[in-house]
Amino acid sequence: MSPMNPRIPCPMNIITDIAAMQQTASRLRREGKTIGVVPTMGYFHEGHLSLMRRARAECEVVIVTLFVNPAQFAPHEDFASYPRDFERDCQLAEAEGVDILFAPTAEAMYPDGYETFVTVENLTQPLCGASRPGHFRGVTTVVAKLFNITQPHRAYFGLKDYQQCKVIQKMVRDLNFDITIVPCPIVREPDGLAMSSRNAYLSPAERQAALALHRALRHAEQMVKAGERDARVVRDAVQAMIAAEPLAWIDYVEVVDAETLQPVEQIQQNTLVALAVKIGRARLIDNTVIDAVR
Ligand code: PAF
Repeated sequence: MSPMNPRIPCPMNIITDIAAMQQTASRLRREGKTIGVVPTMGYFHEGHLSLMRRARAECEVVIVTLFVNPAQFAPHEDFASYPRDFERDCQLAEAEGVDILFAPTAEAMYPDGYETFVTVENLTQPLCGASRPGHFRGVTTVVAKLFNITQPHRAYFGLKDYQQCKVIQKMVRDLNFDITIVPCPIVREPDGLAMSSRNAYLSPAERQAALALHRALRHAEQMVKAGERDARVVRDAVQAMIAAEPLAWIDYVEVVDAETLQPVEQIQQNTLVALAVKIGRARLIDNTVIDAVR
């Protein structure tokens, strides 16, 4: 939005009905407006707000979707206890100048007899896909539905969920969605912990233990900067640093090609160090992209 054309603040519109959202999006498109969407599961933190700000700066209309998507949780996972605070989320989104908050019900998104799913075959196999089978099928399905409902030109996703970004970019390419995916930087607490709604599960001792993730990733960056190129050496060092933290239980630490997500032997350009670690009830993920030839 240019300073010559200041945006007149107006109250955020909350839409829960799918047809109403779709009609509104179609009208906005007919009016020639650029629509940016920020898909979320709510319980907003600075990471979400940074996506909203970016969308606000780049699009004429900003839609935030808020839907805790049951299809991306396995039965034993934290769908029921996932943190929720609708009132607070509405206030935070409105303060960021969001135009529309779209918050459908699970019954409307997945009515009785629902049976259509979107699957990205290969990129979903490693990393989080290996420990959360079916998770990305739930993500791509809901994101495809949200894209069809909100009809965005641009969609904003945080890079903490690196694999999710890649999987959605692939889905958009393969299914010819005319949407630009905008990956946005990880937002961290001042002490380095990547922001996540699941950080709310951490006790003070667990919150302290969770710093091991960021510390280990910084260590990996330092090792590569100092000349180490053997992916196994770097992975083992990261793993050892996290394993030294008694409250941490490692799900995976992987060093992979940042595009294919396949393991690499040598660290070269565009290598992803990704990890998932359980601390108490929280399964935390974090990553860094390392460019050894920089
Ligand atoms: O990253 C998330 O919050 C979710 O996976 C998403 C993209 C909103 C789909 O439910």
